[in-house]
Amino acid sequence: MSERIYFDNAATSWPKPDAVYDAIDRFQREVGVGFGRSTGAKPDQIRQMVLTLRQKLKTLVGASNSDEVIFTFNGTDSLNLAIHGHLRPGDHVITTTAEHNSVLRPLRHLEDRNLIEVSRVTCDDHGRVSAAAIQAELRPSTKLVAVIHTSNVTGASNLIQEIGAVVKESSAMLLVDAAQSVGQQHIDFTKWNVDMLAFPGHKSLFGPLGTGCLIVNEEAQKRLRPIRQGGTGASSHSDENQIIYPDAFEVGNHNVLGLVGLDAGVEFVLNAGIDSVAKKKGMLTEKFVSGISKINNIELVSGTDLENLESGIVSFLTPVLASSEFASVLDHAFQIECRAGHHCAALIHPSIGSSDGCVRFSFGLFNTESEIALAIGAVQSVSSSF
Ligand SMILES: Cc1ncc(COP(=O)(O)O)c(C=O)c1O
Repeated sequence: MSERIYFDNAATSWPKPDAVYDAIDRFQREVGVGFGRSTGAKPDQIRQMVLTLRQKLKTLVGASNSDEVIFTFNGTDSLNLAIHGHLRPGDHVITTTAEHNSVLRPLRHLEDRNLIEVSRVTCDDHGRVSAAAIQAELRPSTKLVAVIHTSNVTGASNLIQEIGAVVKESSAMLLVDAAQSVGQQHIDFTKWNVDMLAFPGHKSLFGPLGTGCLIVNEEAQKRLRPIRQGGTGASSHSDENQIIYPDAFEVGNHNVLGLVGLDAGVEFVLNAGIDSVAKKKGMLTEKFVSGISKINNIELVSGTDLENLESGIVSFLTPVLASSEFASVLDHAFQIECRAGHHCAALIHPSIGSSDGCVRFSFGLFNTESEIALAIGAVQSVSSSF
């Protein structure tokens, strides 16, 4: 194993469980066929794997039907499908300033072309919004409420069940960005009244890069339109894209290599159990937070309540160096990989006091207590050297 000390799991998880590497290697060497195109033993094996993976994901997030599970290529792809596929000219959308750019930019794109109107609810100093603040923005023309579950900057989570209850009383659909929560926090798609749930497969689900998912309930399916057209392997005699779930949204060859890895990753998470994943991450994060809190010139941006700690995300400010320089010294002098800057969240920073960006550590299931001790020592050393 390399000497690499990786604390950038909120960007993408590393390492993956061995079962993920094995499954990918085995597929590429021994199977290597596409999904839903050919017939025979190997295509059948892949068809079965994809079917089972949809069921596992459905179970993991509490959805009701595995046909609601659409595979995409990353979290951004899922959010683009939800936003562009759902909205029509004249619609009003509510979102929050805590969102990732993969929500903010598609909305801004449509707004700049005068196709939609957008209300942006300002988050609090941890990156959360209340259900009441969302409710206050609802209009008869509101067709979508797009809310982040767990902030990729602060690690704080919104109370989606409360927001879901409010949105359910309106004519809008609720889109939740679960990029930083799926696989490590409980999600109940049906009970929380979520209509569309978007997430990547390559973070806490341990799939490889190039995997993602959008789950769409029956009500939202009535409005969602594909944003790309092409072959699905079915109804090949017709040049019309038929709206059959989930095929119509998965045109072209699947990233089967990625899905095989994702399947092994999801299986790993289901076997480990969300509670034990959250517990381990919470323990590591708490140790790190308690260590760096004692260091001069380090100001935490993230909260310290249990749920916040279980996200594994800790961001801080330091006056000694620009965040990018701080992270660069950690990398070059200590081989510690973390991330600095604005973290693709353009609008959150004025609320959380990090307008010049912040340093983010994001822990994974495979980090160890000795790595945390090294990280605390490294942060101490850099912050006292400048
Ligand atoms: C909260 C959040 N939403 C969306 C995304 C986009 O996911 P992807 O990188 O898979 O496109 C990320 C990625 O970091 C994220 O943290």
